[in-house]
Amino acid sequence: MAAVVDAMRAFFAPSTFVIDSENPGDVVARENLLDRAMGTDRRRKSSEKLRRGRVPADGLALVARDEDGHVIGTVRLWNVEAGVDREGHGVPALLLGPLAVDPAHEGRGIGGMLMRAAIQAAKNRGHGAILLVGDAAYYERFGFFAERAQHLVMPGPFERNRFLALELKSGWLNGAAGMLVASGRKLAMPPLKRAA
Ligand SMILES: CC(C)(COP(=O)(O)OP(=O)(O)OC[C@H]1O[C@@H](n2cnc3c(N)ncnc32)[C@H](O)[C@@H]1OP(=O)(O)O)[C@@H](O)C(=O)NCCC(=O)NCCS
Repeated sequence: MAAVVDAMRAFFAPSTFVIDSENPGDVVARENLLDRAMGTDRRRKSSEKLRRGRVPADGLALVARDEDGHVIGTVRLWNVEAGVDREGHGVPALLLGPLAVDPAHEGRGIGGMLMRAAIQAAKNRGHGAILLVGDAAYYERFGFFAERAQHLVMPGPFERNRFLALELKSGWLNGAAGMLVASGRKLAMPPLKRAA
């Protein structure tokens, strides 16, 4: 019942939200939102293998906030190598995900705003291409298509028709083939305590 009341309240509330950089104080709210929007088995996805133990690409962890500053949407991009080019060099690219919007705020353009802000921020930082695994029916509106990723594979099970790419620089993925590999900075782990 409480969820229904929340959804009604959100539906009738004025839709003011802003896109902002994620900060360390957002982590708990973001993880709770992802569990609510995607379920807890989200951590078993092949994309997760490319994110685990890494930090997102610089400046490319974004949130949507409501008028009180609460996190109601999230998107992050991660540094990867998208296979190798014809000379055998790794092709730097970004992996996008997860993208999620609080179920109480869906359908108000927040997902679209997050996507456009993330793509623009990636462009501004000089990145060449973004890959993701998701519903083509949603992501094609932002320019993501399976054709550009056809010679690439994820490091685990994935559906070919959901593996999509957007080139930020024309021809960036020409000749790119092989498996995606994580290339982002590693998360700093707290030092292990030694037994006395
Ligand atoms: C997908 C998601 C991020 C969209 O967020 P949102 O803020 O509701 O998106 P927007 O308001 O910008 O866009 C809504 C539009 O996208 C459409 N849409 C949403 N999910 C879609 C999907 N999986 N496939 C096709 N279209 C979809 C809606 O029908 C709506 O269409 P309309 O504009 O013609 O009415 C959100 O629904 C969500 O968090 N879902 C759960 C997590 C998830 O599945 N994320 C990955 C997506 S593959």
